[in-house]
Amino acid sequence: MAQFWKPGAEKPRLLDDGEGGVLFFSSSYSSSSGFGFSSIEKQRQRLPVYKYRSAILYLVETHATTIIVGETGSGKTTQIPQYLKEAGWADGGRVIACTQPRRLAVQAVASRVAEEMGVKLGEEVGYTIRFEDLTNPDVTRVKFLTDGVLLREMMDDPLLTKYSVIMVDEAHERSISTDMLLGLLKKIQRRRPDLRLIISSATIEAKTMSTFFQTSKRRRGLEGEALEPKVEPAILSVEEPPGDILVFLTGQDDIDTAVQLLTENDRNDRKKSELIVLPLYSGLSRAEQELIFSPTPRGKRKVVISTNIAETSLTLEGIVYVVDSGFSKQRFYNPISDIENLIITPISKASARQRTGRAGRIRPGKCYRLYTEEYFINEMPAEGIPEMQRSNLVTCVIQLKALGIDNILGFDWPSPPSPEVMIRALEVLYSLGVLDDDAKLTSPVGFQVAEIPLEPMISKMILASGDLGCSEEIITIAAVLSIQSIWTSSRGAQKELDEARLQFAAAEGDHVTFLNVYKGFLQSNKSSQWCHKNFINYQAMKKVMEVREQLRRIAQRLGIVLKSCERDTTVIRKAVTAGFFANACQLEAYSHNGMYKSIRGSQEVYIHPSSVLFRVNPKWVIYHSLVSTDRQYMRNIITIDPGWLTEAAPHFYQYRQLTHMPH
Ligand code: CDP
Ligand code: MG
Repeated sequence: MAQFWKPGAEKPRLLDDGEGGVLFFSSSYSSSSGFGFSSIEKQRQRLPVYKYRSAILYLVETHATTIIVGETGSGKTTQIPQYLKEAGWADGGRVIACTQPRRLAVQAVASRVAEEMGVKLGEEVGYTIRFEDLTNPDVTRVKFLTDGVLLREMMDDPLLTKYSVIMVDEAHERSISTDMLLGLLKKIQRRRPDLRLIISSATIEAKTMSTFFQTSKRRRGLEGEALEPKVEPAILSVEEPPGDILVFLTGQDDIDTAVQLLTENDRNDRKKSELIVLPLYSGLSRAEQELIFSPTPRGKRKVVISTNIAETSLTLEGIVYVVDSGFSKQRFYNPISDIENLIITPISKASARQRTGRAGRIRPGKCYRLYTEEYFINEMPAEGIPEMQRSNLVTCVIQLKALGIDNILGFDWPSPPSPEVMIRALEVLYSLGVLDDDAKLTSPVGFQVAEIPLEPMISKMILASGDLGCSEEIITIAAVLSIQSIWTSSRGAQKELDEARLQFAAAEGDHVTFLNVYKGFLQSNKSSQWCHKNFINYQAMKKVMEVREQLRRIAQRLGIVLKSCERDTTVIRKAVTAGFFANACQLEAYSHNGMYKSIRGSQEVYIHPSSVLFRVNPKWVIYHSLVSTDRQYMRNIITIDPGWLTEAAPHFYQYRQLTHMPH
C-alpha cells in the first residue's frame, strides 16, 4: 500500500500488515492552541488528528480495519466521526457509530460533537447508553454508544446493517464488552465486506496493537490504604502559575472524602478558598458533568477529583497539574470462591504515563506522583490485565449464547479468559435455569433473561417475580439496584444520614427499605425538598423512575405479568432468592463480631455499615454485591428462609453442606 499523507503535513507512520491499516501519530499541538476565542472550525483544525484527516479517510476507504493510535486529547473521538460524516460515510441513511466503554464519556463526547457540528443533540448527532436513548432513527447519522449497547443491538440486528463504519474507541481499556465486540465484529466482517472498522486507542504500545492485543502478566492485588490524606498536601503545594488540577483517586467513596477535606471551611487558608473542588465519577448527573467542563473563573483554580475515567476517556481543558495516587479500583474475580470484588489496585506504568500526560496539554505542567520513583521503575507492572481475565463472565456468556455463539471456549477472544471462569459462568447459568444440559439457552427462560439488559441474576429475579405476583415491587428494586446509590453522600453529617435512613428501614433488609423510600417519594409528589430533607438523592430517584418505566415496558413485551403483592414481603424475598441464591450467607454461630460465611465457598463476609441490617445480624441473608476494603462487606442484603434455597436452585445446593442448615 502506498503511503499517503496530506502535503505539507508531518509525515504519519503508516504500517500495512496486509489486512489492516495502522496509523500512529504524535500529538504536537500547534503553538497557538489553547484557550481562546477562535472559531470552532479553527479549534478543530488545531487538533493533532487534523493533519491526518486524509490519511485516515484513505485508510478507511481502502481497508476493512484501520487501527489508529494517538494520544488522549488529540481529537480521535470528536473528530474522526465528523471526518467520516463529511466524507459521505453517512449518506444514504447509513449511520457512523463510535463506541466508548464508559457511559459518561458517551454523553460528554456526543454533546461536544453536536455542539461542534452546530446541531441539536439527539438529532443528527445522538447517543445511546443503557436506559437512555437520545437518537432519532430517521435523522441520527453519527451515533455514540457504549460498547455494551452495541452488543445488545446485535441481538436484533446480528450484522449491524445500519452502520457503515464502527469506531471501537478506547480499545486500550480492554473492557469485556470491547473485547467481545472485537471478536464479534471480526465475524460480522466476513459476512459484510462493506463494513468498516476503526479501532482507536491511546496507548502507544506499537507491538501490542499490531499483534492485535496480547495478554499480560498477572498483577498482584494490594491492600487498600487511605489515599485522601496524601492528596491535600499535594494540592496545596501547587504554586503559581494558575492552572487547574486533576487528581486521580479510586472511587466515589474516597473522592467524596477528598472533596470534603478540601472544601472544609478554613477562612485563614487563602489557598483553599480559591479552589473549586469537583468530583468526577460515573453516575454524575448531566448538570454536574457540565460544571466539570465549564471554564474556570478568573482567580480561581479548579480541582477535579476523578476515578480513572479522566485517564483517557475524557479530556478536560485547562488542566496543568496532575496528582496521581498510583491506584485505581479494579474488578477481580476468583472462580474458586465465586467472588467478584472491586479492589484498590496499583495502576500500571502505561496508566501512570497516561495520567501524567493529562498535565500540561496546553502549557508546561507538572505531575505529582504519590509514590516513589523506585516503585515506579521496579514494581509497577508494565500493563494492566484485560477486564476479561479478571471478571465474572456470567453476563458475557449469556450474551454470546443469545447471539448464537455456541462454542464459547473456542471463541476468537482477543485474550481468552481462563476455562475455570467460563465453566463457573456456565454452571451459574445452568442453576438459574438459563442454560439446558447441552449449554443452550432454555426457552423461554433463557431467552427472556438474555433479553433484559441487566445482569442475569437480576433478570431472573424479575422473571420469578412475575410468577410470584410481585413484579411491580421487584422492578422498583431492580431499578434502585441499577443506580449507584439513592442516598446522598453524608457530607460530614453521617449521624443525620443514619437517622434519616432509619425512618425507612425494614426488618427484612435493604431491598424492602428501597420500597419504603420509593413509596415515600411518590407520596411526596416526587418532591426534591422531601429528598433533600431525607438525605435522598433526587437525581437518583428521577433516574429510578425512568429505569423503572423502561423495565416495565420490557417486562410487558416479555409477557411478565405486572402485579403488586401489596407488600407481602415473603414473595418479594422469594423472588430475590430465585435470582441471587448463589449469594446466600449464614451468620457464624459463635461469632461475636457479626461474621457470616457464604454457603457456597465458606468465604468470610460481614454486613456493610451502610445496610439497615448492620448490627442486626439476622441468621440467613442474601447479598446483592460485595465490596472489599479491610474485609469483605455485603452490600444490600435481605433476610431469607434457608428452605427457599433448595427450592430455588436444587442442583446448586444439593451437594453442598446442607447439614449446616437447621432442618
Ligand atoms: O479522543 P481523543 O482523546 O483523541 O480526543 P477528543 O476527546 O476528541 O478531544 C479533542 C479535543 O476536544 C480536546 O482538546 C478536548 O479538550 C476537546 N473536548 C472538549 O472540549 N469537550 C468535550 N466534551 C470533549 C472534548
Ligand atoms: Mg477519545
